[in-house]
Amino acid sequence: MVVAKKFIYVKPFVGMPTADNVQIVEENLPEIKEGEFLAEAVYLSVDPYMRAYSNSYTLGQQLEGGQVAKIIESKNPQYPVGKHVMAYFGWRTHSIYDGTQRVFLIPDETIPLSYYLGIVGMPGVTAYFGTFDILKPQSGETIVVTCAGGAVGSQVGQLGKIKGCNVVGIAGTDEKLDWLKKIGFDQVINYKKTPNLGEALKKAAPNGVDCYFDNVGGEMASTIIAQMNPDGRIAVCGAISAYNDIGEPVKATPIQRYMIFGRLKMEGFHVSSLLHRWPDAIKELLGYYKTGKLQTKETVTEGFENMLNGLIGILNGDNIGKAIIKV
Ligand SMILES: NC(=O)c1ccc[n+]([C@@H]2O[C@H](COP(=O)([O-])OP(=O)(O)OC[C@H]3O[C@@H](n4cnc5c(N)ncnc54)[C@H](OP(=O)(O)O)[C@@H]3O)[C@@H](O)[C@H]2O)c1
Repeated sequence: MVVAKKFIYVKPFVGMPTADNVQIVEENLPEIKEGEFLAEAVYLSVDPYMRAYSNSYTLGQQLEGGQVAKIIESKNPQYPVGKHVMAYFGWRTHSIYDGTQRVFLIPDETIPLSYYLGIVGMPGVTAYFGTFDILKPQSGETIVVTCAGGAVGSQVGQLGKIKGCNVVGIAGTDEKLDWLKKIGFDQVINYKKTPNLGEALKKAAPNGVDCYFDNVGGEMASTIIAQMNPDGRIAVCGAISAYNDIGEPVKATPIQRYMIFGRLKMEGFHVSSLLHRWPDAIKELLGYYKTGKLQTKETVTEGFENMLNGLIGILNGDNIGKAIIKV
């Protein structure tokens, strides 16, 4: 009998998650039935949404999330033993696919499999849809992206470069900025060391901002939006500055004046509502990666039991590129 380990949510997060919010429990798995397969997690993803959506969690439920897993037993010819899947099985070591979970067979196993949680996984397609569908950057335009040193942001900047744009990345450590310069960002700003972000942005983007990929929200977003050129576009992807909020919500300067006089277009999007387009987007991203147009970096934490530490790490800004847990 296979015994799975899984994380359950036992105490509501208040501010930054802590060890007593979750618990690891064991689950005896039954034999698989016709049409099912058994998979063992190899890499798991930690992502900001795991904190952001916690107000919809119920106590006792398993934590949600994506993983790359190896098929170790199968009664489904579409999913042969030895192949890998990217699957939303949650924070658990072993899972039985019963036809209800969101699962993608990995299309190309010649690249590191963990990349299906990053550059050619959910964060990659998020960057792809937000940049290409919403920002629609034109050659010569300036794109600003926040959380630039992370999974989504680093890719947004590189997609902007593919389109011939001037790319400005904003992130919280000099190590992240050094890496961003190496992968082609034109200008970088460390928001933690910059007393006046508006002034720093004026220097980094002297011709103004045409496209803003917002991963942060709050006052940082208002400051950037206030410097946008007429007919600029804003892709609202995330609001990590508010995810750990306790008490008073994050306040930000009103942006309506800039939206009106600049005729700006702001659009929120959620990558899960575009699932039908993931396979094509992943194919295109794989092509960019294989031809050297996209690069990636990972911050890997060893050990399934360190899932929560990995999540705390991204909320603290410890990760460069995609945060991954290796079982
Ligand atoms: N709409 C969608 O479908 C979708 C899908 C995926 C992700 N997202 C959103 O996209 C954003 C980035 O996600 P990701 O997976 O790529 O994460 P990530 O950027 O790899 O990691 C999160 C980063 O956020 C930064 N951060 C933390 N607190 C911050 C604060 N108060 N102000 C500014 N920056 C802060 C940290 O970097 P620093 O060192 O720079 O502070 C940290 O490394 C998140 O907001 C996430 O929720 C949305």
